[in-house]
Amino acid sequence: MNSSTSFHVPEGLDVLKLPKHVAIIMDGNGRWAEKRLMNRIRGHEAGAETVRAIVRTCREIGIPILTLYAFSTENWQRSKIEVATLMMLLKKFIDSEENEMIENNIRLNAIGQLEKLPEDVRISLKRTMDLTGKNKGMLLNLALSYGGRAEIANMVKIIAEKARDGKIDPVLITENFISDHLYTAGMPDPDLLIRTSGEIRISNFLLWQIAYTEIFITDTLWPDFGKDEFIKILVDFQRRERRFGNVGR
Ligand code: IPE
Ligand code: IPE
Ligand code: MG
Repeated sequence: MNSSTSFHVPEGLDVLKLPKHVAIIMDGNGRWAEKRLMNRIRGHEAGAETVRAIVRTCREIGIPILTLYAFSTENWQRSKIEVATLMMLLKKFIDSEENEMIENNIRLNAIGQLEKLPEDVRISLKRTMDLTGKNKGMLLNLALSYGGRAEIANMVKIIAEKARDGKIDPVLITENFISDHLYTAGMPDPDLLIRTSGEIRISNFLLWQIAYTEIFITDTLWPDFGKDEFIKILVDFQRRERRFGNVGR
């Protein structure tokens, strides 16, 4: 992730029409490992390498916001050992990427029920978020212990408390007002959502924010996903006509 590395714009990609916000459901680590008769944990380790590669690619191309679904509210149901390993890998990722993020002007942010994360992960997260807080180059948004329904319930609670305390009039509750009370307040909605490993579902990710997001599902398992396929998806995205309910060109 060295900022001095030269980067050539990939063929077919229009850098003036890049998505402002890409969200990814990084799925398939377990199947990747099982296919190789390895423990699922090895799949998560391999998946962490893909995260590095995709963050680097987004920075090089100039995608302003990347949101990665790393751990869902439902993922807490997995075995103790798998959850503990995922938390350990998460901390390792944050600690090992901290310098790169500082050097490359990347701001780290996290969305989700962060209070549920183990203390050592929270400490690492806070440290790197503080150290990179003023960076303007790219926003890396990690969805951790994240659930779209939990996010919406949290938003309703905050707004209801404001109304109860007489701080707002319910006529103020517009779509923008709701967006401003989600974890993603201040960020544009994702233009593109990618899911790896072929599952055709949303799995409780960014339910409010993806109202008009272009969705791309690939069969590739997350550890096998890489820069070339990512760029192909971006090129495909640029060919799509986004109508937002209006009629075509
Ligand atoms: C994605 O891979 C990582 C997380 C959900 C934490 P999975 O662990 O879900 O992999 P599969 O879906 O079992 O292959
Ligand atoms: C979605 O993947 C959550 C993350 C990628 C973090 P899952 O593997 O948890 O989703 P389901 O269970 O297949 O819907
Ligand atoms: Mg999965």
